[in-house]
Amino acid sequence: GGRKPLAGRRAIVTSGPTHEPIDPVRYIANRSSGKQGHAIAAALARLGAETILVSGPSGEPVPSGVSMVRVETAREMLAACEAALPADIAVCAAAVADWRIDCEAVQKIKKEGGALPSLALTENPDILATLSRLASGRPSLVVGFAAETEKVVEHAVAKLGRKGCDWIVANDVAPASGTFGGHDNRVHLISADGAEDWPKMSKQEVAGRLAGRIARYFEDRT
Ligand code: C5P
Repeated sequence: GGRKPLAGRRAIVTSGPTHEPIDPVRYIANRSSGKQGHAIAAALARLGAETILVSGPSGEPVPSGVSMVRVETAREMLAACEAALPADIAVCAAAVADWRIDCEAVQKIKKEGGALPSLALTENPDILATLSRLASGRPSLVVGFAAETEKVVEHAVAKLGRKGCDWIVANDVAPASGTFGGHDNRVHLISADGAEDWPKMSKQEVAGRLAGRIARYFEDRT
């Protein structure tokens, strides 16, 4: 039930970590749980948006009313986002691995034989920057996240320009903040209009408030 201010809008949300294979049995990953991204997808769907959740490996349940596309690597995540276009809204909450192994081994790398393997890395595509800079079919509203351990707002404002997105949700991930894998989040919403400091709240509440702001953005435009 409830009001559906995003009815008729399409949203793509990225969530979770990515896994970047080293060989068939090993991978590089990070500590993202997918809690925040999944909660955002759920909140957008509740407001009526047709929501596609593109998620890396996460133990979070599939939110109701959301179409889930499961991916593993950053390149798969980008391809899934591109396949999900067109969209009015893109929210990139995934913790995409910055690098992948340059030359993934086809067979399991063996310990026997002595020599330590050296892992050459190469840069992954930036999904947020790619969606933000689409020459045609760019979503009207592209929202990124910034996980910072210091100078949170300052770094997030710089990131807004670098990525070309419209809003950044900046969160404090200093170890003491308990954000990673935890339930609470302290965020700042950064846009061209400045920074809004939100009080400490649960990731569900951040998601609900963000979805509400997104709905208001589209209401103000029409
Ligand atoms: O550059 P940084 O990783 O700090 O930026 C974080 C933001 O960029 C998040 O919104 C994240 O989902 C997005 N991102 C992305 N693809 C990458 C790296 C980050 O979409 N390869």
